[in-house]
Amino acid sequence: AADPATNEEGPGLAVYDPGFVNTASCRSSVTYIDGDKGILEYRGYPIEQLAESSSFLEVAYLLIHGDLPTKEQFEQWVHEITFHTFVHENIKGFMQGFRYDAHPMGMLMASVGAMSTFYPDASNIMDPDNRHLQVVRMIAKMPTLGAWSFRHAQGKPYVYPDNALSYTENFLSMLFKMSEPRYAADERIIKALDTLFILHADHEQNASANAVRSVGSTQVDPYSAVAAGVGALFGPLHGGANEAVLRMLRRIGSIENVPSFIEGVKAGNERLMGFGHRVYKNYDPRAKLIKKATEDVFEVTGVNPLLKIAQELEKIALEDEYFVKRRLYPNVDFYSGLIYEALQIPPEMFTVLFAIGRTPGWLAQWLELVQDKEQKIARPKQIYTGQRGLSFTPSEQRW
Ligand code: ACO
Repeated sequence: AADPATNEEGPGLAVYDPGFVNTASCRSSVTYIDGDKGILEYRGYPIEQLAESSSFLEVAYLLIHGDLPTKEQFEQWVHEITFHTFVHENIKGFMQGFRYDAHPMGMLMASVGAMSTFYPDASNIMDPDNRHLQVVRMIAKMPTLGAWSFRHAQGKPYVYPDNALSYTENFLSMLFKMSEPRYAADERIIKALDTLFILHADHEQNASANAVRSVGSTQVDPYSAVAAGVGALFGPLHGGANEAVLRMLRRIGSIENVPSFIEGVKAGNERLMGFGHRVYKNYDPRAKLIKKATEDVFEVTGVNPLLKIAQELEKIALEDEYFVKRRLYPNVDFYSGLIYEALQIPPEMFTVLFAIGRTPGWLAQWLELVQDKEQKIARPKQIYTGQRGLSFTPSEQRW
C-alpha cells in the first residue's frame, strides 16, 4: 500500500520482526519448549526422562525418525552409525592443511562443508534412502572431525575411530588416546558426556537450526546446510556462552568476591553469564540435569574450586530481587563449561562438543523441511530505508 506521507509504494503487507522474535518460520513436530514452565520435550518425550534413561544414539534415532526404536531398529541404527565413523583420507589431508592455531570450530565448519564434495550423491535430496545415508554419515563422522580439529590444535597425530567403543567413548578416545592399547574412560565420564550430548541434541528454532533450514530451503545438499549451522553456532551469542561463564568464574576468583560481583551485575556493569534465556523464564530444565552430571564428573576428577563459586553465585542470585523480578535463572551453559574443564577439554572445544550434540537436531529439522510441501525458499521481506531514484553520473564526470 502507498505510504500516505510520501505517496510511495510500501512493502505491502509485511511484519517487521528483526531476529524473528515473534514470527514462526516453519511448522515442526521435533521439539516442544514451554519457556514459562521450563519444559523441553523431544518428539513429546520429556528431556528429564531421556537424560536419565536413554542414550545419545537412541535420542538421535528418536529425533530423526520421530519415534523410539525397537531393539532390532536400534541395533541396526548403531551398526550403521558405527560403520560410517571413518572419514576419507583426503579429508584428513584437507584438515592437516589448516594453520597450527586454527580454531576447531572453523575447521569443523570447513570440513563438514568439504564433505559435500566427497559425497556428491548427497545432492539427491528427494530420494529417502539417499537422505538416510547422508544423515547416518553425518552423525557418524561429526565426532571424528571434531576430535581431529582438537588434535590438530594440539599438534598431535589424529586418532582413527575405534569401532569397538561406544559412540561417546570413541569420541573421548579420538580426543585423548596417546598410545596402544585401547583407550578406556570411566563409565561415569562417558555417561556424563553422553548426557550432555542428549541435552544439546535439539532446541527448536535456535539460530543454528534456523541457519540450517534457511540454507536447506534452497534444496542444497545437507552437508552445505549443516556447515551453515556450524557457522551460526560458532558465534559467541549462540554457542560460546559456557566459555564466558568459565572466564567469569576465574575472574571472580573466590567465594568472598561473589557478593561484590553480584552488586556490579545489578549496577549494570556486566551480565551474570550463564543466567537468563530468551525463551526460558524459569529454570532451564537442561541446567538442572547438567548440575547432576557435574556432581558425577567431579566424583571422578575431583572437585573444581570454581564449582563453589558457581554454587554461591546461583544461591545469591536465586534469592536476589533483581534476578527474581527479571526471571533470570541458570541456563544450560552455567555448569557445562565446568564439566568440560574437568574433562580437560579446552574452552575453544566447547562449541565443537555442542555441535556434535546438536547434529541430530539439525538433521531432523532438515529432513522435516525437505519433506514439507508447504515450505518455501527462505526469503524474508525487508523494510527498505535507503534512497530511491538517484541518477548515476559516470566516474569520469564525478571525479
Ligand atoms: N545478568 C544480568 N542481567 C541480565 C542478564 C544476566 N545474565 N540477562 C538479562 N538481564 C537483564 C537485562 O539487563 C534486562 O534488564 P532491564 O529490564 O533492567 O533492562 C532484563 O534482564 C531482560 O534482558 P534481555 O536482554 O532483554 O533478555 P533477552 O531475553 O533478550 O536475553 C540472554 C537473553 C541474551 C540469554 C541474556 O539473558 C544474557 O545475555 N545472558 C547471559 C549470556 C548467556 O548466558 N547466554 C547463553 C544463553 S543459552 C544458549 O544460548 C545455549
